[in-house]
Amino acid sequence: MDVIEVIVAKRDSGELSTGQIDWVIDAYTRGVVADEQMSSLAMAILLNGMNRREIADWTQAMIRSGERMDWSALDRPTADKHSTGGVGDKITLPLAPLVAACGAYVPQLSGRGLGHTGGTLDKLESIPGWRASLSNDEMLAVLREAGAVVCAAGSGLAPADKKLYALRDVTGTVESIPLIASSIMSKKIAEGTGSLVLDVKVGSGAFMKTVERARELAETMVALGTDAGVRTVALLTAMDRPLGRAVGNALEVEESVEVLAGGGPSDVVELTVRLAREMLEAAGIAGGKDPAEALKDGSAMDAWRRMIAAQGGDPDAPLPRAAETTTVAAPASGVLTRLDAYAVGLAAWRLGAGRARKEDPVSFGAGIVLHAKPGDEVRAGEPLMTLHADEPERFGRALAALEGGYEVGAAGQDLLPLVIDRI
Ligand code: URA
Repeated sequence: MDVIEVIVAKRDSGELSTGQIDWVIDAYTRGVVADEQMSSLAMAILLNGMNRREIADWTQAMIRSGERMDWSALDRPTADKHSTGGVGDKITLPLAPLVAACGAYVPQLSGRGLGHTGGTLDKLESIPGWRASLSNDEMLAVLREAGAVVCAAGSGLAPADKKLYALRDVTGTVESIPLIASSIMSKKIAEGTGSLVLDVKVGSGAFMKTVERARELAETMVALGTDAGVRTVALLTAMDRPLGRAVGNALEVEESVEVLAGGGPSDVVELTVRLAREMLEAAGIAGGKDPAEALKDGSAMDAWRRMIAAQGGDPDAPLPRAAETTTVAAPASGVLTRLDAYAVGLAAWRLGAGRARKEDPVSFGAGIVLHAKPGDEVRAGEPLMTLHADEPERFGRALAALEGGYEVGAAGQDLLPLVIDRI
């Protein structure tokens, strides 16, 4: 087969055959198709799209590029959740042990943050001793011990996606629904979960800025999962403002532990419980202990402590704190009408909570604590948020990112509902 023919076919808005897709993914993984050729094909796909059959073939070819995990030795159903990412989205931390406490096994492969959105592994690594890299046998042992495991994907899982995602990141080809859907779903299907709940974020702090684009992505991913035999549902959820009151690695762990202790901000609790119920239903074990109950009776907290300890972490160790803080005061009295998720995410990133390049370290203590959320009354001069950083020189650029990102006014603006739709 000739790679130029495949590129030209898509450049001219043609449909790629199953044979062409299988060949190009395999040849790219083996290094026979060069990065510049794949980057040209990715751009043609971004501009001209792919139909459902092409996306399904592309996904299956990426799954076949590596290993497929198998949890059939476990005696209970498996359930997983994937979020497309947002600001303050720490939901996996309370959710995985919560669903385990309600009877499912949760094998969750997670990622690190890049840009203004945080990554689950960076958050958990702020817990002293906690390890993100586990072998498949270690994953199984943690699952048996705690019911849930959250760790990094090994190099054997969908290696074609690993290579292609890194290439898309530097060639302006991330924002393509066929490429995003196939990238996420190839990893989730290869991970071997029996059921999957997708949390597709919508708004300024998300990949998908509009409900229409988010719906298209969600429908594409649900179809890919269902066709592959994974019971898959998706929720479209709000990311026009940050989730919860903490943004930043250790700060978000602290907030997650509050939720597991039966407290925490109402939006984080509501979304965690809703996603847990969806996961249990998708796994076919709804009707047992309700997730809201498991947050109150301590069983979700017990599962969290077992999960952290089984991965080398000390659930009682003090979390890292940033050396410096500064506050942002409310400019007037009234109602906080807007708090833009992207502005807060960018500010937290500039404080050191995120990384600019994959190999950069993150500051575990850096981030933002919000003292008011949209709809809350505020008084002029009172703190609206506290910024945390290790180096005080970071505050200037973080404050600049927040300029225009919040408004105090007379009445509340329309916000997206927390859960916009279910697909
Ligand atoms: N996350 C992924 O894993 N892949 C994408 O393409 C985008 C987000």
